[in-house]
Amino acid sequence: MSFYLAPENAESRQFEMIKETSFADTIEQAKQRREEFMQRIAGGVAVFAAAPMFIRNNDVEHEYRQDTDFYYLTGFEEPGAIAVLAPDNEEHKFVLFVQPKDREREVWTGWRAGEEGAKRDYLADTAFTLDKFNEEFPKLAAKADRLYYRFNDAAFDERIVRFMRGFQRERQRNGTHPKAIIDPAETLHEMRLVKSDDDLQLLRRAVDITCEGHIAAMKALQSNLYEYEIEAVLRYVFRKLGSPRHGYAPIVGSGANATVLHYVTNNSFIKEGDLVLIDAGAEYGYFTGDVTRTTPASGRFTKAQAEIYQLVLDAQIAAINLVKPGATFQDPHNETVRVLVEGLLRLGLLEGDAAEIIKEEKYKKFYMHRTSHWLGMDVHDVAPYKVADEWRKLEPGMVMTIEPGLYIAADVEDVDARYRGIGVRIEDDVLVTREGNEVLSARVPKTIEEIEALMQQNKF
Ligand code: GLY
Ligand code: MN
Ligand code: MN
Repeated sequence: MSFYLAPENAESRQFEMIKETSFADTIEQAKQRREEFMQRIAGGVAVFAAAPMFIRNNDVEHEYRQDTDFYYLTGFEEPGAIAVLAPDNEEHKFVLFVQPKDREREVWTGWRAGEEGAKRDYLADTAFTLDKFNEEFPKLAAKADRLYYRFNDAAFDERIVRFMRGFQRERQRNGTHPKAIIDPAETLHEMRLVKSDDDLQLLRRAVDITCEGHIAAMKALQSNLYEYEIEAVLRYVFRKLGSPRHGYAPIVGSGANATVLHYVTNNSFIKEGDLVLIDAGAEYGYFTGDVTRTTPASGRFTKAQAEIYQLVLDAQIAAINLVKPGATFQDPHNETVRVLVEGLLRLGLLEGDAAEIIKEEKYKKFYMHRTSHWLGMDVHDVAPYKVADEWRKLEPGMVMTIEPGLYIAADVEDVDARYRGIGVRIEDDVLVTREGNEVLSARVPKTIEEIEALMQQNKF
């Protein structure tokens, strides 16, 4: 039995081709982002630390992924590095502090760029080894009156505080050096929120790979598999199409496991009558997809499953229709809640007055999470949802998920038994365009008819 058709097509080859040729593009994009960021922080100096290595156990490390802000501005993927951006320094606006070249260590942990590589390949104006940071950073910061630094690592935060003590003294003596620390997120995360054309190309590719994985998973889905076998199909397709890793821990939840929001053990046997909720996203170029589909293992929805599924789908489509410039981030959520509550009343899962149920949030028994988050390099991407206490207005280039769900726990009381243990979420990645929106993940089937048709293709 062949349960999965490997994507041996032109598209997969195209992904591989672009991956090989994209390093220069990555470096050029990082350069453009740095230039824009430096323009916006003129008069200041910014420092960014790479993500540290985390120990998994004993001498084994967790898989490494660069800090997103650091990567966004540098394209540099080695741990331990520090980047300084000094827009008012005539010669050295972009300085990288890196691990030294060390043949012996590199045999164990891989190639290092070193100071020369940092300049040649990553376009640093100058580079030093990390042990020079304490000596060099105050020189680079001398002309700035603000230090842009985001507190997020206790050990590095400590170092910044020590520098600031030194800067206070310098200021008294010489009238130089930063006098305040400002969170660069206010600038940087606004840049990350509105995707450039280059950003979108990477994100589209991440979402395309994600869609391929979901379609393959749907085809593979049968009633005689464990959830982790579907997880393996996702990972196989993602890796094959050039994604180095998932953007977050994938969820493959069958039956009542689908009602557990952060179910990631994925180790149950999928039973014939189960719905299977799959929430997975591939990373590409540090951008990630985030897509959920809920599919019947048997290839056919039962009547009760179809009722719940159709309600979630109606809510999702209504919410997506509100994604457009000028709408607020909150509008799709309000619409989702309205549609879900009306449907839950119709199906007898809730009783009472819709307005009161919404006001008292009684729907949270079945729908307890939000409808959207920003999407980009982080699955829950950066930038505030509110500005001055008002929901943010959507603008072209922003990307958000629309992901309503209904989760009817297996042991919930006061619910018709046929609905118990049903969990459904439908999640798409939606780009705000000038005209309205574009659903980037539209190619994964999501109507009942489309899903059942795809599943029938797979029956032997
Ligand atoms: N997969 C995480 C989320 O949907 O928000
Ligand atoms: Mn999501
Ligand atoms: Mn998701």
